[in-house]
Amino acid sequence: MSLARAYTNIALVKYWGKRDVAQMLPYNSSLSLTLDKFYTETSVEFTDQAEDQFIFEGQQQPVSAKLMRVLDDVRQLAGSQQKAQVKSHNHVPTSAGLASSASAFAALAVAASHAAGLELSRRELSILARHGSGSASRSLYGGFVLWHAGTDDQSSFAEPLSEQVDFPIAVIAVLVNQQQKSILSGAGMQAAVTSSPYYSAWVKTAEADISRMSAAIADQDIAQIGKLAETNAMRMHATTLSANPPFTYFAPETLQIWELVRQIRTKGLNCYLTLDAGPNPKLICHMQDVSKIVEILNAEIPNLTYTLCQPGPGAKLMT
Ligand code: DP6
Repeated sequence: MSLARAYTNIALVKYWGKRDVAQMLPYNSSLSLTLDKFYTETSVEFTDQAEDQFIFEGQQQPVSAKLMRVLDDVRQLAGSQQKAQVKSHNHVPTSAGLASSASAFAALAVAASHAAGLELSRRELSILARHGSGSASRSLYGGFVLWHAGTDDQSSFAEPLSEQVDFPIAVIAVLVNQQQKSILSGAGMQAAVTSSPYYSAWVKTAEADISRMSAAIADQDIAQIGKLAETNAMRMHATTLSANPPFTYFAPETLQIWELVRQIRTKGLNCYLTLDAGPNPKLICHMQDVSKIVEILNAEIPNLTYTLCQPGPGAKLMT
């Protein structure tokens, strides 16, 4: 039995759209920060049982096509026919709204390959995790991570920009809504690719954002990182509003918080917002400003749940 842990990540330059759905190749490169507060632990054991088995939070679940894909890849690499028993557990601080497939598939890649006796490099693990979920390719690493879009299966992998982050960047995850997202990220990005006339502009600007964001990280410039992340996120969300039919991941509270974030900036605090395929914003700021920012938000919108995150580590084997 092999047990692995992987942390979730927040994209500062988003992955949004697959050029090749079967191969899980993205249109644009993306850049993320691995977070320290939410992780998935997954154990895998290959046995002579008749079928693959997936137990999530102690409950047997159907084996999804994505899960099967990763297990089949591992079997192929190991030359094995054995079926897997996969047990997975999410560690989320009081409903942080941070659940993601990124930590799940990164932990699965590490645990399953080890359980099958493979010794894969981190690049190979990143590719394997990508076959389950694109954003999972980045959760193999800690800190700031770049996923190269690549041109084929072997050239589309993530690598760390800086696994050790020595400056005080903070991400405040705000929970406005715990409901299951209505349009899953995979379907949402596909709708944008096929029906938004702005999609090509998204790809072009996202690629340009990668070099600007890399420079801001090298400069340890938290305000610039936040500014670029907010602009990039809103451009991604513009492809949903411009899709046919149009849709949005914003909830009323999301817009309310965005407005407050802009007000917070007028008070001289650096605070920027990003959000993924769901209504819960993540605020990017300096550690020293966290309590002031939360105080302002609380005064305007009481009863929100906040989770303060800092840069987190890469995926690792626990056994
Ligand atoms: C908006 O990685 O969940 O969070 O590859 O279809 O599993 P699949 O999609 P997923 O998409 C993540 C989209 C995003 C942006 C990002 O994390 O880069």
